[in-house]
Amino acid sequence: MRCWARWCSGFLSRSRGGSDRRLAIHVGTAIGTIMAANVFFVIIPGQKKMVDAMRAGQLPDPIYGKRGKQRSVHNNYFTLPVLFIMISNHYASTYSHKHAWAVLVLISAAAVSIRHFFNRRHKGVVDWRFPAIGAVLLGVVAWWTAPQALKLPKVNGPVTFDQVRGIMGQRCVTCHSPTPTFAGIAQPPAGVLLHTPDAIVANAQRIYQQVAVTGIMPLGNVTQMTPEERAIVAAWIADGAKVK
Ligand code: HEC
Repeated sequence: MRCWARWCSGFLSRSRGGSDRRLAIHVGTAIGTIMAANVFFVIIPGQKKMVDAMRAGQLPDPIYGKRGKQRSVHNNYFTLPVLFIMISNHYASTYSHKHAWAVLVLISAAAVSIRHFFNRRHKGVVDWRFPAIGAVLLGVVAWWTAPQALKLPKVNGPVTFDQVRGIMGQRCVTCHSPTPTFAGIAQPPAGVLLHTPDAIVANAQRIYQQVAVTGIMPLGNVTQMTPEERAIVAAWIADGAKVK
């Protein structure tokens, strides 16, 4: 029961100002477990029973074949959604969305529709309506997840580079330095360094995207960056990202 509660809270909650990568992991492990269980508890035992029956000179019960076929159809439709989940951590716009679960449902539905097209085509039926449905659903996702800059507070007065450098030092360099101190991070993530003025200036546009548009950095907001700090960094970049 507690385990379920944790699963559901992981599924539904979303850390403040950040993103929730747990969603994909939870759904992925659930589907992956179902797929493996289909193979090991239904498909393989059924086949064994049929082979045993044939060896014994009896007519195999067709129910095992039917059940096996049903589960392999389930697995077949699961494959593309699972593939997407496996690579989804590279697509922050999907999991950082406010309704990430609905985005995942739409992408999975598109994948199932596309898969159905290929399944039918295998049987010689080419029905373009199914990839069209998939394309429309993915179009909806693209439109729905299009980046919208975060709503940030107004910044009073001019922003100095020292302020920005201080914020980077406090909120980012635990991970983004040549020798990260954050537990579990051995190298600067994505090769992004933010420990020197040059490095900060060189990455200004990427910082803007992560901090002021998607808000996915700092990762899960573990270093507790405030909306005011995001606004200061955004204002500095909008002002030309100069080392003043
Ligand atoms: C807890 C560690 C951690 C902290 C703190 C952190 N990051 Fe990151 N950052 C990561 C990881 C991990 C990635 C790689 C993410 C990926 O591959 O999807 C990353 C990637 C990035 C990228 C590259 C994204 C891209 O694809 O262009 C930028 C830019 C970035 N971080 C900026 C920042 C800024 C700015 C801060 C501070 C406000 C910050 N990060 C704080 C862990 C961290």
